[in-house]
Amino acid sequence: MKVTIVGAGNVGASCAEYIAQKQIASKVVLLDIKEGFAEGKALDLFQTATTLGFNTQITGVTNDYSSTSGSDVVVITSGVPRKPGMTREELIGINAGIVQKVSESILNHSPNAIIVVVSNPMDTMTYLALKSTGLPKNRIIGMGGALDSSRFKTYLSLALEKPANDIQGMVIGGHGDTTMIPLTRLASYNGGPVSQYLDSKSLEKVVSDTMVGGATLTKLLGTSAWYAPGASVAFLVDSILNDYKRMIPCSVLLEGEYGLNDICIGVPCIIGANGVESIVDIKLNETEQALLKESANKVQIMNAALNEIL
Ligand code: 2OP
Repeated sequence: MKVTIVGAGNVGASCAEYIAQKQIASKVVLLDIKEGFAEGKALDLFQTATTLGFNTQITGVTNDYSSTSGSDVVVITSGVPRKPGMTREELIGINAGIVQKVSESILNHSPNAIIVVVSNPMDTMTYLALKSTGLPKNRIIGMGGALDSSRFKTYLSLALEKPANDIQGMVIGGHGDTTMIPLTRLASYNGGPVSQYLDSKSLEKVVSDTMVGGATLTKLLGTSAWYAPGASVAFLVDSILNDYKRMIPCSVLLEGEYGLNDICIGVPCIIGANGVESIVDIKLNETEQALLKESANKVQIMNAALNEIL
């Protein structure tokens, strides 16, 4: 299977690294507009094949979409990352044009590809990619919830002082510092609700830490995070290419699900060979449903900014 990653920056290169190391695909193509940059990242990564023991072939190209032909999955990470103090939403002016152009270029060479959108503001960029390409909604997936859920589980593991892999938890809603919704009611440690082990004050801190998880790292790193975003993309691509049908919160077009229409926002999805196989109704309570509606209203405001482009 072949995966193209557009954008060889930190996130894109980490996507390539994990997809290759876990042999999720047999071919990975890294593409960037900066002369030689993707070629260098790809060659450096490929030179780890013998020490890390993978056979995935990694190549890099400069703005040559013909090399991406026949990709099964294309990951869009291109655009500018945020700087400390910025919100993801502030990137829309620059990244919207990039995502629209990239989406159209991809399909000229990989008409059957499933597109995974990472560029921020991710929910709006996912909606833009969907409208620009006219692809069926199952083939445009925004990656945000997988990342936010990994942060949610990490903060729960720190609060519980237990291994993160013994914890289940999901974040839905927008991929934004004020729009995501960590579902504490449904989170569990070895099958028991986390509320049995953490008081409400601790859970509130886990929620607030999760919501600004990206901003916290941007402040520490001076740029957006890349390891966890890259690993979250690889997790998603793995479920697609191996048809695992994992339930993963992803930003997908809603047409009435959760009472929302004409918006891409994070909801639980079954992810398999067809991309979004189905959207799962996890029966939110009134509070959670109200938070999702509030989140959607904020995402819709961002989407309205696309009117000048679409
Ligand atoms: C993050 O939350 C890059 O939006 C991504 O780190």
